[in-house]
Amino acid sequence: MTATLQPTPTRIPGRLPLLGHMHRLLADPRGFFRSLHGTGDDVVVIRLGPSPAYVINDRTLVHQILTRDVRKLDKGLAYEKSAPFLGDGLLNSTEPTHMAHRRLMQPAFHHTQIARYVEQMREAAAARVNGWHDGRRIEMDQEIHAFAVAVVCRALFSSGLGDSVAVDVEESLPVLLKGVTRRIALPVGWLEKLPTPGNRRFDAARQRLAGSLGGVIEEYRRRGVDHGDLMAILLEARAEDGGPGLTDQQVHDEAMALFLGGVETARDVLSWAFHLIGGHPEVQRGIAAEVDAVLADRPLGYETLGELKYVRQVITETLRLYPPAWLLTRRTVTELELGGHVIPPGSNVLFSVHAIQRDPAVYPEPDTFDPQRWRDPGTPALLRTAFLPFGAGNRSCIGEPFAWAEMVVFIATVARRWSVHGVPGHPIRPARSPMLQPRDLPLIVWSRPGAR
Ligand code: HEM
Repeated sequence: MTATLQPTPTRIPGRLPLLGHMHRLLADPRGFFRSLHGTGDDVVVIRLGPSPAYVINDRTLVHQILTRDVRKLDKGLAYEKSAPFLGDGLLNSTEPTHMAHRRLMQPAFHHTQIARYVEQMREAAAARVNGWHDGRRIEMDQEIHAFAVAVVCRALFSSGLGDSVAVDVEESLPVLLKGVTRRIALPVGWLEKLPTPGNRRFDAARQRLAGSLGGVIEEYRRRGVDHGDLMAILLEARAEDGGPGLTDQQVHDEAMALFLGGVETARDVLSWAFHLIGGHPEVQRGIAAEVDAVLADRPLGYETLGELKYVRQVITETLRLYPPAWLLTRRTVTELELGGHVIPPGSNVLFSVHAIQRDPAVYPEPDTFDPQRWRDPGTPALLRTAFLPFGAGNRSCIGEPFAWAEMVVFIATVARRWSVHGVPGHPIRPARSPMLQPRDLPLIVWSRPGAR
C-alpha cells in the first residue's frame, strides 16, 4: 500500500534562505495561494521561514481533512500564534475539552436565542444608523466594527456589565490580529520575545483585554448570575457528570473565542458587502425594493429575516469573494495519508478558502460579483466542498446563525433609510491582516426618498 504513495508533493520554487516564501506571503498572500491552486497539484509544499508547510489545493481533500480526518489534525499555526491572548477556548482547544465546551455553548446559538439577539441587533444597528446625516462621509468599517462588538457584547453580557469590555475589544483586537499576522509569516519563537515596539503593543493589548474581561467575570461571580446571557451559561455550566464547572480562566478563554471568532469576521463581511453594494447601483436598488416589499411598516424581526432572500444572496456572494477566515490552518498529530501523499506528524497544513471559492471550474467568472448566481444555488454536494466561509465538520463556525442574523439585520436597517456611495478617488484595498478585511471603507450616505 505505502509503495503506491508519492511521499513528496511538489515543492514550490523561489524560497529564500531562512525566510522561505515569507516575501511572497507578505507581498500578496491571496495571490500566492491562488497561484499554488493554479499549479493543478492537489498538494504542494511551501516554506514558512525555515519550516515546511503542506498546502492542500484540492477541495475534496480539504473536505476530507475537515470532516473525516479530524482526529489526525489539530488547529495549527494561526491558533498557536493566537494562544497568548486566546488561551484554550473553543477556537483552539483540543478534544475532549473542545466537544464538551461546544455542547455547553450550543444552546446559546439555538434559534430561540437568536430570535432574542435579533432585537438587540436591531437596536444596535439603529443606534449607528440614526446618527448619520445626508451627504455625510462615514467611516463604514468603523461603524460596522462598533455594531459587531456591541452585538457580541450584548449576547455575552446582557446586564450591560460588559460595556467597558466593548471599548477594550474594539481597540485591542486589531492590534492582536496584526501581531498574529507577523507571527504566522515568520514563525520563529525567539523573535516574538524581543522587546520590539510591535511585541510590546501586542502584550499591552493582550493584558488590557484579559484584565477587563477578568474584572467582569469577577463581578458576575460576586453579584450572582441570573441574566440568561451567554456569560451566565458559561458560569453556571456543570459537566455532564455533575462535576465542577468552568474555572474563571476557562470562562475567560471561551469569551475570547467568541470575541475573536465573532467580531472581526462579521465586520469584514459586512464591510465588503457595503463596498460591493456601493459600487453596484442595480444591487442596491434590488435590496431596497426587497426590504420595502417584505418589511413594509413591520419592524425587522427574527421571522422576517428568512424572507429577505435577495439580501441573503448578496451576503452569500460576498462570503464567496471575501471569506474573512480565508486561510485555515491545521497541524498533523499523527501521520496523514492524503490524496496519495504521506504527511508526517507535526506538519503544518494550510488551505485557502479564498482560492477554493474562486475556482473557475466551479464558479464561472469567479472574480465577478454576481449575487444572482445564488438564486438557484447548485448542488448541495458541490457546495459542501466549494463554499466554506464557515469551515466544515466538528470545528465549523458555532456562530453561523448569529452571524447571518446580524448581517441581514444591519444591511436591512441601512437599506430602509439610506443609500450608500463610494468616495470618488478612494480605492478600497485589503488590509495587512490574517483576516480578509478592507483597510478602511469611507462611504457617503444619502437618505432614500420616502424612507421609513
Ligand atoms: C460572517 C461571520 C463569520 C465567519 C465568516 C466565521 C467563520 C468561521 C470559520 C471559518 C470557523 C472555522 C475555523 C477553522 O476551521 O479553523 C469559525 C469557527 C468559530 N466561530 Fe465563526 N465566523 C463568523 C461569525 C462568528 C460569530 C458571530 C461567532 C460568535 C458569536 C463565531 C464564533 C466562532 C467560534 C467560537 C468558532 C470555533 C468553533 C469550534 O471550533 O468549535 N463566529 N468561524
